[in-house]
Amino acid sequence: MNNDEDVFIGKSSKREKLLLKLANRHGLITGATGTGKTVSLQILAEGFSNDGVPVFCADVKGDLSGLAEKGVTKDFLEERAEKIGFDDYSYDAFPVVFWDLFGKQGHPIRTTISEMGPLLLARLMDLTDAQEGVLNIGFRLADDEGLLILDLKDLRALMAHVSNRSKELSAEYGNVSKQSVGAVQRRLLVLEEQGARNFFGEPALDISDLMRTTKDGKGYINVLAADKLMQSPRLYSTFLLWLMSELFEELPEVGDPEKPKLVFFFDEAHLLFDRAPHAMVDKVEQVVRLIRSKGVGVYFVTQNPLDVPDTISSQLGNRIQHALRAFTPREQRAVKAAAETFRPNPKFKTADAIMDMGVGEALVSTLEKKGRPSMVQRTLVRPPSSRLGPLTKAERKKIIAASPVSGQYDKRVDRRSAYEILQQKSEQKAAQEDQQRQKETSRQTQKRGEFTIPKVPKKTTKKRRSNSGSRRQSVTETFAKTIARTVGAALGRAIMRGVLGGLKRGS
Ligand SMILES: Nc1ncnc2c1ncn2[C@@H]1O[C@H](COP(=O)(O)OP(=O)(O)OP(=O)(O)O)[C@@H](O)[C@H]1O
Ligand SMILES: [Mg+2]
Repeated sequence: MNNDEDVFIGKSSKREKLLLKLANRHGLITGATGTGKTVSLQILAEGFSNDGVPVFCADVKGDLSGLAEKGVTKDFLEERAEKIGFDDYSYDAFPVVFWDLFGKQGHPIRTTISEMGPLLLARLMDLTDAQEGVLNIGFRLADDEGLLILDLKDLRALMAHVSNRSKELSAEYGNVSKQSVGAVQRRLLVLEEQGARNFFGEPALDISDLMRTTKDGKGYINVLAADKLMQSPRLYSTFLLWLMSELFEELPEVGDPEKPKLVFFFDEAHLLFDRAPHAMVDKVEQVVRLIRSKGVGVYFVTQNPLDVPDTISSQLGNRIQHALRAFTPREQRAVKAAAETFRPNPKFKTADAIMDMGVGEALVSTLEKKGRPSMVQRTLVRPPSSRLGPLTKAERKKIIAASPVSGQYDKRVDRRSAYEILQQKSEQKAAQEDQQRQKETSRQTQKRGEFTIPKVPKKTTKKRRSNSGSRRQSVTETFAKTIARTVGAALGRAIMRGVLGGLKRGS
């Protein structure tokens, strides 16, 4: 591990660096396609890792996997190193843990439905207000009855439960329309088709597993396979948002630490804000602002700086701006807007530089000791030490097998939860109804033997049924509550929810 106070970015007229102490003041990497964003992310990840800071990043094109292998000598890399006076440039592999929501290209990463909470789920399923309302009622009901909602089949069972009891629930919680329940159920199917089934369940991710360091003090780089995930942009962005909020809720307050506890790169960040309702953007803004004092630095990576809303952009202190094209009016606006976010350098016009830079070149401004942004500098970004480009399947497999979380998440566990409990309940109910029916039949046969009796009027039958129904229910309800109590006690955190509606632990 290095004892550096900063991460080396590249060279302008001077050495450009990112101060570890201010790395939790977030950042932004932007630039048109092919201008060097991913390599910039790669060299930052390397630098953080060397300084003992764990990193989390999503690998959209597969090329970040190269971090796990030593780079191969290439003329253009050597030339770049020489040009910027990077004397101790060397090739090196970094400690990487691969993750994959689908469990194919890395360790499965999961969370439970309860932990994600109704707010993010509604965003994930793109629910209307009315549908979200119904989902909320489902969660309330689950909390009240102590039903554990772990995976998608639990949620499906819960929604069926809500649907069956819609009348009674309407009286208690407000209008529960069957149409809305039906719509949520259909959305659930879509979600399953997108592969979300793998993502919801146990063992759920313990975020401390993202914050590991090696024995010799290097930070682990967590690389999330995101190539397939990108085909479901909502799942991708909601997942990263959930992860961010989870970090925020779980980590203790640390103020401004000497170096970050974790650095989180959010690639294709525009997906987070695409058609996001105001309320959601506000919440993201809040999480980004507050997560700083938990020692987490968030770095958004996107092509167009206008993709990130102003309220959030203004909190991103460390900036690497690669070249932008400026053919269309929107592109010209982006250049202008990007230029205005920098502290000008009298030596050049920021906007002109943005349009003029070559590949692997960037305008860099980072926070100086007092938290003031440095004057913008036209910078040649350093070449990476790890491999440029993806790992082979075999290489990836080897790294996954040797990972520090090997075996911990790989096998899915399906413990007793809402689905099983509700299923058992309905089976019990059916069995009891059967018994009751048999009793009635034998009683009627007996009575018929003594004297003839007129047919039982329909109404009475109904009434008797519903009477015995409520008695039956009380039996099963007691049963459910016993479980609820046990479960509730085991969880010890029934209904505390955080900023983004995720469960809060330790309450
Ligand atoms: N700092 C650098 N040192 C050496 N070569 C670089 C550097 N930055 C970029 N390059 C070269 O430019 C290529 C493209 O860079 P990169 O993949 O980072 O672009 P990108 O902005 O991520 O593109 P996209 O938007 O398509 O993902 C790299 O494969 C590499 O060959
Ligand atoms: Mg890229």
